Amino acid sequence: MKQTKRWIVTPVQPQSYKENDQTDITKELSTTTMSKQMIQEAATMLRAGFTVAFPTETVYGLGADATNETAVNRIFEAKGRPADNPLIAHVATKEQLMRLVEPLTPLAQLMIDTFAPGPITFVLKSNGTCATNVTAGLQTIGVRLPEHPIAHELLQACDVPIAAPSANTSGKPSPTAADHVWTDLNGRIDGLLDGGTTGIGLESTVVDCTEDIPIILRPGAVTREQIEAVVGHVMIDPALLRSDSKPKAPGMKYTHYAPDVPLWLVEGSVKAIQDSINEARLVGKKVGLLACDETVQMVEADRVYPLGTNIQEVAAHLYDGLRDFKRSDVDLILCETFSEEGLGGAVMNRLRKAAQRVINSATE
Ligand code: TXA
Ligand code: MG
Repeated sequence: MKQTKRWIVTPVQPQSYKENDQTDITKELSTTTMSKQMIQEAATMLRAGFTVAFPTETVYGLGADATNETAVNRIFEAKGRPADNPLIAHVATKEQLMRLVEPLTPLAQLMIDTFAPGPITFVLKSNGTCATNVTAGLQTIGVRLPEHPIAHELLQACDVPIAAPSANTSGKPSPTAADHVWTDLNGRIDGLLDGGTTGIGLESTVVDCTEDIPIILRPGAVTREQIEAVVGHVMIDPALLRSDSKPKAPGMKYTHYAPDVPLWLVEGSVKAIQDSINEARLVGKKVGLLACDETVQMVEADRVYPLGTNIQEVAAHLYDGLRDFKRSDVDLILCETFSEEGLGGAVMNRLRKAAQRVINSATE
């Protein structure tokens, strides 16, 4: 068991930070001397080859120096992550990004100029600067510039690229709160920068930018529609649409986000959801319901987790909801489905991967 050091950094809510002027909050954070000291301490640990979890605007990441193979191995050990699943390298600036990759194609340049910093990972041709276990032996590397002020300040202080997968035990939902990280990894990692809850709540959009047309390998908060508006044509990894195709992002082949309690998706009306709950209860099951506030008010279940009133709130609360039911005594979680438009595409991608079964009331 390691002693995991936990620093409580002045909570900065990325949501309000995004709504307001970005520079204001960064300035506010920078003037908090205590926070600055804690971030410096965490950076020193990372530079010395230790593992530190930190908040980003998507989910918490578990960081280690991406140029240090031994340090990166500590991430795989702590998470129990398969070695064939590459990690994302996180950097503070475009200059730092350029140190890790081959000269950019015009498309990659346009994508980075438009969407960085933000909840997006660019898959680019690696120049071999990062340790080989970061890329799992691939010729490409995923690079991300987070826009969360704590992540940004930490990466700036490190001045080395930081490899960071989501800071959960492999197979569990990604952490959207410091307590999620603590539950999974306390005693297995060296540090945790506690910066409150993350804003978006789903992992970044992963986009292959190595060819002329971008390919979305994992949907996220930067949507297909937004990318299309900038570059025209966008491709979607066929594996996202068909389960018989091998995903280009190695991590997408794993049953991620699987809660310990079975999860069923119910397509259709509120009545279809209530019918499914009643059926499960008839055979003695305790049923938990994960749904938007409106549905929760109309349906009766043994336990409910209201996800919010719009798709942004649903995304932000989804993983906490899955974790909440895991801690409770329900035998089955039922979740409603959402429109695939915009952020809904990413929400439904995660739900489909987590679900054991999809109930379609029209075909039942
Ligand atoms: O929002 C996020 O992306 C968070 C925060 C911490 O940045 N990180 C995250 O990392 O979700 P992880 O390791 O849980 O997911 C990374 C995904 C995996 O599906 C992995 O296979 C894919 O990105 N990936 C990484 N490098 C790749 C590469 N060179 N080619 C294709 N896919 C890659
Ligand atoms: Mg992950």
